[in-house]
Amino acid sequence: MENNLISLGLENVVVAQTDLSLVDGQNGLLVYRNHWASDLALNHTFEEVAHLLWYGHLPNAEEAKALHDKLAAQRELPAFVKAALDAIPADTDMMSALRTGVSLLGTEDFAAWPPTLEQVIALTAKVPTLVAYRYARLEGREPLAPRADLGHTANYLYMLKGQEPQAAHVRALDAYLILTQEHGLNASTFAGRVVASTRSDLISSVTAAIGALKGPLHGGAPSEVTEMIEAIGTKENAEPWLRAKLEAGERLMGFGHRVYRTYDPRAKALSTIATGLAGDDPWFALAVHVEEVGLRLLKEFKPNRPLNTNVEFYAAAVMRAIGLPDELFTPSFAVSRTVGWCAHILEAAQGKIIRPQSTYTGIMPE
Ligand SMILES: CC(C)(COP(=O)(O)OP(=O)(O)OC[C@H]1O[C@@H](n2cnc3c(N)ncnc32)[C@H](O)[C@@H]1OP(=O)(O)O)[C@@H](O)C(=O)NCCC(=O)NCCS
Repeated sequence: MENNLISLGLENVVVAQTDLSLVDGQNGLLVYRNHWASDLALNHTFEEVAHLLWYGHLPNAEEAKALHDKLAAQRELPAFVKAALDAIPADTDMMSALRTGVSLLGTEDFAAWPPTLEQVIALTAKVPTLVAYRYARLEGREPLAPRADLGHTANYLYMLKGQEPQAAHVRALDAYLILTQEHGLNASTFAGRVVASTRSDLISSVTAAIGALKGPLHGGAPSEVTEMIEAIGTKENAEPWLRAKLEAGERLMGFGHRVYRTYDPRAKALSTIATGLAGDDPWFALAVHVEEVGLRLLKEFKPNRPLNTNVEFYAAAVMRAIGLPDELFTPSFAVSRTVGWCAHILEAAQGKIIRPQSTYTGIMPE
C-alpha cells in the first residue's frame, strides 16, 4: 500500500486527547489541567501537583496528608531489588541502573491491568529511592533508609546527600520537579503510552519511558549543558567555541524544542530560581553569558527556525546550585516525570493500540 503522508518524527501529528496538560508552543505557555505550571511550581508541593494530575484537582489538607502518607509508606525497596542493583557494574550509567531497577519492580504487585492509583503511588514513591540507593553505593556510602516524616522532595535530597537538606534547596528542587512532572506527548511519555496501548503493564510502560528519557535529545541534555559551559570556561571563549560548534553542524545543548517556538516557560521560571540561588557564582554568570551568545548565534545560523533556551539549560543551573552532580540530573528528571508518565498511562489504558505505518523504500522481489 502506498502512503505518501509522512511526518518524520511525528512532527505536528496529533495522536491523543488528554486532560492533563496544554503545551502552547507559540505563546510559551504550559498548563497542568486548569492551572499555570509556573504558579504551581511557586505555590505548591510535589505531592499536591501529583494529586492534581492523578486525581484531577488540587488536594485539600486532608487529601494532601493522605497522599503524603501513602507515598511515604511505599518508599522502601524490596531486598531483591537492592541486591540486583548492587550486582550492576559500577561503570553502568545511572539511567541504565534506574531502568533496570524499575523493571525489577514488575512483580505481581504491579501486574494488574488496567493500572491502579495504588500502583502509580507505589512506583512514584520508589523511583527516588532507587536513584538515591544506587548513588550512595557508587559514592561508597551506606544507602540511607527513606524518612517518612519528610516530603517527597526533601526525602529525596536527604537520601542523596546523606544529611538534612537546606529548606531553600528543597524549595528549588521542588519547583524544578513540579515544572517537569508533565509535558504532553514528549518522546518518553509517548513511548510509555505506546506500551500501555498494548495493555502491557505499568512497569513495562514506565521502563520504556525511562529508556527514551535517557537520550541526549530528550532528558539527557542538562549534564551536557554543564559539560558545554565547563568546556567554554571563560566569557571570551563563548563566542568562538559556540560558533565553531555551529559551523561544524553540531547542536547547542539546552536550546531548541520540538514544540516551543518561543522561550520555554519552564526555563523562565527556573532561571529566576537559579538566579536567587546562585547569586554571583562565576559559573552561573558564565552560563548566563553563554545563553546570550548562544541565542544570538542560533539566530544567525538558523534564521528560519526560532531556537530558544529550553528547560534543560536552567535545570542544569538549578541542580548545580543545590549541589547535585551531573550524573543525577537526568535521574532527577525521571523522579518528576514518573508522575506525568503514570497519569498518561492511566489515561491511555483504555485507548486504541498505537500502531502507525511506514512507507517501504526497499526493493520489491522479482
Ligand atoms: C530538542 C530538539 C531535539 C528538537 O528538535 P526538532 O524539533 O526535531 O528539530 P530538528 O532536529 O528538526 O531541527 C530543526 C533545525 O534546527 C536546528 N536545531 C535544532 N536544535 C538545535 C540546537 N540546539 N542547536 C543547533 N541547531 C539546532 C537543526 O539543526 C535543524 O536545522 P536544519 O533545518 O538547518 O537542518 C532539538 O532542538 C535539539 O536537539 N536540541 C538540543 C538538545 C536539547 O537541548 N534537548 C532538550 C530538549 S528539552
